Amino acid sequence: MTSIDQARCVLVIGATSGIGRALALAISELPTRPTVIAAGRRQDRLKELAEKKLETLQIDVSADEATLKTTVDSLVTKYPNLDAVILASGIQYNYDFTKGVDLTKITKEINVNYLAVASLITMFLPHFLELSNEGRPSFIVPITSGLGLLPAPPVSNYSASKAALRSFTTSLRSQLQSTHINVVEIIPPLVESELHDEQGTTEMLSKIWMPLDEYTKTTMEGLRKGDTHVAAGTAALVLKRFADAGLNDSFPISVAK
Ligand SMILES: NC(=O)c1ccc[n+]([C@@H]2O[C@H](COP(=O)([O-])OP(=O)(O)OC[C@H]3O[C@@H](n4cnc5c(N)ncnc54)[C@H](OP(=O)(O)O)[C@@H]3O)[C@@H](O)[C@H]2O)c1
Repeated sequence: MTSIDQARCVLVIGATSGIGRALALAISELPTRPTVIAAGRRQDRLKELAEKKLETLQIDVSADEATLKTTVDSLVTKYPNLDAVILASGIQYNYDFTKGVDLTKITKEINVNYLAVASLITMFLPHFLELSNEGRPSFIVPITSGLGLLPAPPVSNYSASKAALRSFTTSLRSQLQSTHINVVEIIPPLVESELHDEQGTTEMLSKIWMPLDEYTKTTMEGLRKGDTHVAAGTAALVLKRFADAGLNDSFPISVAK
């Protein structure tokens, strides 16, 4: 079994608040004391994490491809032991298609939640393949959502972005099965965080969301057990329904050589 306890250096992108921040702090306290690099845009939040002895990196995942590639290359040079990346950055918008929708929001949401994550994973892969060739395990850990399994209509495009990321993650796991790279999908339900602040729905959702402490505990248990799908709450229930229905994770077609 390969679990996050084997990681020596963990990058958490989207660690300045919510789920990413909680996981970064919990991982930094594992008995193995891995180096944790907390990444995000907000410098004041990064400063607070640096005071807790985490390494920090300011990054905007919506930057252009060349900027992201430079960032990835310099990270791998600075931290040659980097062997886990948790991709927690995400944004969410509400849409009412009967009233008209701002297309720039659709583009931005797809870019941050899907394109940037898929691009970053692709850019980190050569480093992880090198580790794999040395027999060392590594971890690619995108955070999708229960809404990637079943959409929530008010956050239609967010749900679509997470369905895309789930699909990408599943295929990636299949393509990397002969390597030592572990592709682990974290699938949260509705969880206490700042994700919904921009839409003014935080107060209403706070009555039904899973408290962040409870969520973090459950997720850390799954990561430490070496689960490939780390789901909690309603997301775990929906995932189980798919499994109970006998649905495979993907079509049984291998990559053409
Ligand atoms: N909370 C939920 O109910 C829930 C449910 C299912 C899935 N999720 C997923 O869980 C992940 C964490 O979300 P959360 O709920 O913890 O929300 P959150 O508190 O709003 O955290 C989002 C994180 O993403 C970062 N981020 C956003 N845009 C970014 C950008 N352009 N570049 C770099 N970082 C960026 C933010 O940092 P900066 O603003 O500092 O850049 C922040 O650290 C997301 O992928 C979300 O979709 C959440």
